[in-house]
Amino acid sequence: MATDKETRIKYSDNFSDIKPIIVRRCTQEDLEAVIVVNEKELPEDYPYFFYKSILDNYPEAFLVACNDRGKIVGYIMWRVERTPALHSLKLVNKGHLVSIAVLKEYRRLGVATAILANSMKNLKKYKIDEFVLEVRVSNYTAVNLYQKFYFTTHSIKEKYYRDGENAYYMTLKP
Ligand code: ACO
Ligand code: ZN
Repeated sequence: MATDKETRIKYSDNFSDIKPIIVRRCTQEDLEAVIVVNEKELPEDYPYFFYKSILDNYPEAFLVACNDRGKIVGYIMWRVERTPALHSLKLVNKGHLVSIAVLKEYRRLGVATAILANSMKNLKKYKIDEFVLEVRVSNYTAVNLYQKFYFTTHSIKEKYYRDGENAYYMTLKP
């Protein structure tokens, strides 16, 4: 089991009962539950083998957040891309945020902040030159989250999504 390091967030749903949220690495057994969160919270769906290949290749940065009963309430997954730098032949390592989501009932507790911070720390072993992501221009909540981590909008990708919406391409130098 890849339950190497656990991070606890304390929260309360009735102002008296403090409960922990645990952040740990995703395992293959977690994938079905991760897919449930993705399908509830995001319009972009991926086949099982896509999640599996991300988990196989970048397990350190594939994290889940669980409630006190072990239910998965959020996840984050990244991939690392080795690409030529702009205007140069030098290769750089890009940490590409593939997907992050938190169940509605568990939002605004710091879950996304915890999984984003921990996964970016775990990506250090890849010597990341730049973190990158795409986000819907209408996704004010997620844009706010990324700005909180000092991501800035590098450019707009026109009609990036299947429904025609544009994406902000946001980047961050570590
Ligand atoms: N309104 C404005 N800003 C918000 C809101 C909100 N309702 N919720 C979160 N934020 C921003 C704030 O900057 C917040 O910091 P603050 O609390 O100090 O103000 C920051 O995000 C962190 O909040 P968290 O509590 O850590 O975020 P949460 O756990 O609620 O998850 C997330 C945020 C993942 C965006 C969640 O709303 C979600 O799952 N949304 C649907 C899925 C989604 O849009 N994912 C991103 C798609 S893009 C991609 O995956 C590359
Ligand atoms: Zn992307």
